[in-house]
Amino acid sequence: RVPDDKDPLSTVAPYACQRRTSITHHNAQITDALDILAKAAAFQGSEVRSLAFTRAASVLKSLPYKLQSVEEAKNLVWCGGHCQAVIQEILEDGVCHEAEALMTSEQYRCMELLTGIYGVGVRTAERWYKEGVRNLSDLENPNIKLNSDQKAGLAHYTDLNQPVTREDAERVEHMVKDTLYRFVPDLKITMTGGFLRGKQQGHDVDFLITHPDEEALSGLLKKAVDWINRQGLLLYHTMKARSHVHAYKRSTHMDGHETCYAIFALPHPDTSNSESEVPGGDLTAPAARAWRAVRVDLVVAPYNEYPFALLGWTGSKHFERELRRFSWNEKKLSLNSHGLYDMEKNCSIPATSEEEIFSLLGLQYVPPPYRNA
Ligand code: CTP
Ligand code: MN
Ligand code: MN
Ligand code: MN
Repeated sequence: RVPDDKDPLSTVAPYACQRRTSITHHNAQITDALDILAKAAAFQGSEVRSLAFTRAASVLKSLPYKLQSVEEAKNLVWCGGHCQAVIQEILEDGVCHEAEALMTSEQYRCMELLTGIYGVGVRTAERWYKEGVRNLSDLENPNIKLNSDQKAGLAHYTDLNQPVTREDAERVEHMVKDTLYRFVPDLKITMTGGFLRGKQQGHDVDFLITHPDEEALSGLLKKAVDWINRQGLLLYHTMKARSHVHAYKRSTHMDGHETCYAIFALPHPDTSNSESEVPGGDLTAPAARAWRAVRVDLVVAPYNEYPFALLGWTGSKHFERELRRFSWNEKKLSLNSHGLYDMEKNCSIPATSEEEIFSLLGLQYVPPPYRNA
């Protein structure tokens, strides 16, 4: 078919940041399968194939109707032959056999298990898999060296693979705000990440912290983390200092903000006033515990970088990737979570809000609930 303006199918914009993508949509069965194919490709080290599946899935997530036939997908951007075969199979059989086979394969199962450990990426998981690791208990082999992130990840594996609910996230928010306001009462603290996009659960809770007075931010994360530790609620953390590489020289996906990657012991709501809740006891008896481990990211941004940091930490990852790709390919501007840079004029372009950043890029503003690309 020749695309024309009246054909809604031909109007799907090529960049995810030009589209609105809600959490719930009309083609979940197909996008679930494509997401599995994308993940399996990433597990096999094929980033390009993985991205192709992610792009196709993202297009279908933005469609305002349910696909009825594979013909309807043929005009869609990024939906090539492989994607169309998946669509056809699901529309005809209700299942994608390739995705089913991948999911039940030993490699996929192990890679899913191992990358589910905090601190373990695809490369580490793949190395361990090649070395014969099949279960978490195989990591007790002294030949397998775990770094401190991975040791903490393994120690809290069950809790950290338990979805963080919105209720959990709100209690973490109280804990974080109560702590930070002790030191600076008028900080601006925003829960970012998936919860800001309206997700009902996540794998962690993300916070962005700023203040007009840069002095107020200095040493703040360390003080906050020390305080939480004194409450007995800090299970693990790594602090990443602010990196002073000139912002526009950073690779676009690198983030130089001061960050604390933490694991908190979040007291259960009904026992939060009891005295028997301090962690460090018997991890093998979760039912007896009055808390759960939860991953928390705390990011500090200078006030003038706040809109860029907010845009960068709200996600989704694919939406972010597409924003940067759009900026560079279509506007010759380099965007990261510190700023927007005109590389030809060698200057940075300031903005005071996310809305302004979209407008500087010539994009329609996309509110966070529609960034679930
Ligand atoms: N991010 C980043 N730098 C990092 C880690 C994350 O800029 N070192 C950004 C990601 O690009 C993403 C956002 O922070 O846009 C949130 O990341 P993450 O917590 O991993 O994902 P969520 O979308 O919040 O999903 P989840 O619910 O699984 O946490
Ligand atoms: Mn998150
Ligand atoms: Mn995530
Ligand atoms: Mn995070």
